[in-house]
Amino acid sequence: MPPRTLIAGNWKMNLTLPESRHLAQEVLKVAAGAGPEVMIAPPFTALTVVAEVLAGSEVSLGAQNCCWASQGAFTGEISPLMLRELGCAMVILGHSERRHVFGEDNAMINRRLKGALAAGLRPVLCVGETLEERQAGRANPVLKSQLEEGLDAIPIGAGLIVAYEPVWAIGTGQTATPGQAQEAHAFIRETLAGMSQKIVASEIRILYGGSVNEGNVEALLAQADINGALVGGAALKIESFARIIRHHV
Ligand code: PGA
Repeated sequence: MPPRTLIAGNWKMNLTLPESRHLAQEVLKVAAGAGPEVMIAPPFTALTVVAEVLAGSEVSLGAQNCCWASQGAFTGEISPLMLRELGCAMVILGHSERRHVFGEDNAMINRRLKGALAAGLRPVLCVGETLEERQAGRANPVLKSQLEEGLDAIPIGAGLIVAYEPVWAIGTGQTATPGQAQEAHAFIRETLAGMSQKIVASEIRILYGGSVNEGNVEALLAQADINGALVGGAALKIESFARIIRHHV
């Protein structure tokens, strides 16, 4: 059985508190009874407000990053335990904006992953190559090192979620074709199988992210190794996000 589809909304650094509350309420209506699992990841400051809306529902709350430590002198960071306290179930780690705008490397992402797992959060590890890396034929080696270094010394279980987000497709409107995405997803699954077991790798959900919208989601999700979507821009518009949730296959 293929793993259950996960549609995740990454709100990034957007929305006021009233807007966050409203959007979460709308997501809740759409997600009720829909086939896929749904997760939304608001900014840290809106987590409490959104947690109140989602309480007792099947929609999961996610954060957009977390520290490796549970407490201490880490100005500007958020502890995974603090996220648990707020009701977060998942955390996005290694997003390309963290890697490329804020300089997070595989070693740091690995520490964050360990902290998240220790606190009982389900990590969504993002990997993806830049345009230059793809054009230089280095997409697969980049993905491999992001997986191997990001997951170093971490027992890989079926609860892990990986998101393939080619950097050139994020926020650009330029989506990977279903074929390109499937090729990368198959490579990611094969790499994970090499690091764990084939059976475990077959149960890991690999999401596609990068300009997913209501027009392209169906073709992407129809691919054998695409188990869901990590949605940025289109997750901020309820009409689009609703169609993405409902257009699952
Ligand atoms: P996008 O963002 O859908 O706006 O391209 C996806 C992401 O960064 O997770």
